[in-house]
Amino acid sequence: MKEFKRTLVTTALPYANGPVHIGHLAGVYVPADVYVRYLRLKGEEVLMIGGSDEHGVPITIRAKKEGVTPQDIVDRYHTIIKDSFKEFGISFDVYSRTSSKMHHQTASDFFKTLYDKGEFIEQTSEQYYDEEAQQFLADRYITGECPHCHAEGAYGDQCEKCGTSLSPLDLINPKSTISGSTPVLKQTKHWYLPLDKHEAWQKEWILEQHKEWKANVYGQCKSWLDMGLQPRAVSRDLDWGIPVPVEGAEGKVLYVWFDAPIGYISNTKELLPDSWEKWWKDQDTRMIHFIGKDNIVFHCIVFPAMLKAEGSYILPDNVPANEFLNLEGDKISTSRNWAVWLHEYLQEFPGKQDVLRYVLTANAPETKDNDFTWKDFQARNNNELVAVYGNFINRALVLTHKYFDGKVPACGELNEYDQATLKEFADVKQQVEKLLDTFKFRDAQKEAMNLARIGNKYLADTEPWKTAKTDMERTATILHLSLQIAANLAIAFEPFLPFSSEKLRKMLAMSSFSWNDLGKVDLLPEGHQINPAELLFEKIEDSVVEAQVQKLLDTKKANEANSFTPEAIKENVPFEDFCKLDMRVGTVLECTKVPKADKLLQFKIDDGMGGRTIVSGIAQSYPDPQVLVGKQVCFVANFEPRKLKGIMSEGMIISAVDADGRLVVISPSDVVKNGVNVG
Ligand code: MF3
Ligand code: ZN
Repeated sequence: MKEFKRTLVTTALPYANGPVHIGHLAGVYVPADVYVRYLRLKGEEVLMIGGSDEHGVPITIRAKKEGVTPQDIVDRYHTIIKDSFKEFGISFDVYSRTSSKMHHQTASDFFKTLYDKGEFIEQTSEQYYDEEAQQFLADRYITGECPHCHAEGAYGDQCEKCGTSLSPLDLINPKSTISGSTPVLKQTKHWYLPLDKHEAWQKEWILEQHKEWKANVYGQCKSWLDMGLQPRAVSRDLDWGIPVPVEGAEGKVLYVWFDAPIGYISNTKELLPDSWEKWWKDQDTRMIHFIGKDNIVFHCIVFPAMLKAEGSYILPDNVPANEFLNLEGDKISTSRNWAVWLHEYLQEFPGKQDVLRYVLTANAPETKDNDFTWKDFQARNNNELVAVYGNFINRALVLTHKYFDGKVPACGELNEYDQATLKEFADVKQQVEKLLDTFKFRDAQKEAMNLARIGNKYLADTEPWKTAKTDMERTATILHLSLQIAANLAIAFEPFLPFSSEKLRKMLAMSSFSWNDLGKVDLLPEGHQINPAELLFEKIEDSVVEAQVQKLLDTKKANEANSFTPEAIKENVPFEDFCKLDMRVGTVLECTKVPKADKLLQFKIDDGMGGRTIVSGIAQSYPDPQVLVGKQVCFVANFEPRKLKGIMSEGMIISAVDADGRLVVISPSDVVKNGVNVG
């Protein structure tokens, strides 16, 4: 394997058209951060590049919907996203944005270089044009009938009902979402990157030279390359983005997927205006792209083709893309609000960033899609972070204070059990390194946790609180070793749980701190004074996660109500049958809950004929029955009387059943005389 001098880590630039959620963190930013912290701790030269992706059609659509400018949208979300990452300890060396001047210039120059070198082909094609709005229409700005499932409202790039990918020309009866008019086809010129010309070297480079890439990444690349690459348009007719810097390109911008990856370069330049080139153009630099699986083709095929076409840049050495994280069994979705948003988590779980980092790594979708559940979140916190890691640290420190005034006691003779314990973690460094070097973050974190398990078991088995009654020398040895394990934990967990690690380091008053110390048992010398113990983690109660689950259930309910499709109409009935029903209007005089029946309400109705009692099963829709008193309602007056919970009910109140199952009583829209017919 080639030896490199430095590592450039890039992280996918999230679209600034919404906040970031746990899927982003699990797929890209936590693994990248773990990796970078690990390399830094090893003393390696490393940069972590991030930023917001601020171009593209969805941002313009959102802006239009809200009646603001695209810049307003990206300003808002760039700030929220940047803050969320910072709060979670994602340790970017730079986090910038693609609407910056630096980026516009860099991307524009990059295009110009390729253009001047003749690396593009120009092609004219017919695209939909809105004559009223006088503009070409991006795929997302055209809707129509899906040619496959015939649903209305399919987009020019995809039908959301049946999931089929479409091109705008496939749509039946297309309409512009800007003006509502029917678009016409009009000729337009665009620049294309001829990927077909890059196919041969890419096959060699990926399929032969990078067999070590993760199976999910390699497999996707192989299927693209086997299918054969096609030229890809790198410009669009749109008014939001980086203008195409050549003559005759008015009203055209760089395609967002052309400019965004160049953002990695712009942001490096912004950080290191004088030395950025060694990070991008020196063969001794190793570049790693951290991304989600929907970005694979752009980072493994399109961007490398751009870099190669330019000629002076290095190519990525690895692209450890992750699969997707689901939430409680469902795909995370911004539009359905099916997500755990980071800014909300931070408010609801203050100080618990490491808990989420831990759970997301423990469940990282490294080889397949994975599921985040609140129950698992609670279990991992309570059973692993609290019961194993936190418990061990707390016991080791509290006992040291109790018996030795917080000074690291002397290490006496080691017995067989001590030696066996030391042996168990002697190779922890090598183990964790091997896993981190191959991007197996879940297993690496498991190894770190295993170290805590060893410590926990050691204390449980040696019982220093008992030896303290008879043998202080033995107690000293046990706590001496335990504190060394604690110091090792502070190092091993620093890439994964940086906040807790820092807290632990402070408690142990560790001055030196390096990855290379991992596995050593002389990190805290005899007599070294430690600080008072504080809890590293705290238990999460059932009620807390139940509230989170309830929040998601509410979201689901709201979504279902939004996507309501009416039931099929029942069989026809003759008019005479309808006339058999006697429906009337009456005023609610009293309305109370029926004791011991959580669904029933007892009504006293003024029916214009001396009054009647009706028992109705709508209590759950009216938690406060008083709101119905004084209202006029409709009821079936000739329903056979029947006893419900011992009360004779004379009729039935008529309600609409809402999409979420809620019952809503039907009232006349104007006051009428009690007892009149409904029909
Ligand atoms: N914004 C894209 C997404 O969220 C990722 C862009 S990565 C970059 O899917 F390389 F283009 F920057
Ligand atoms: Zn369809």
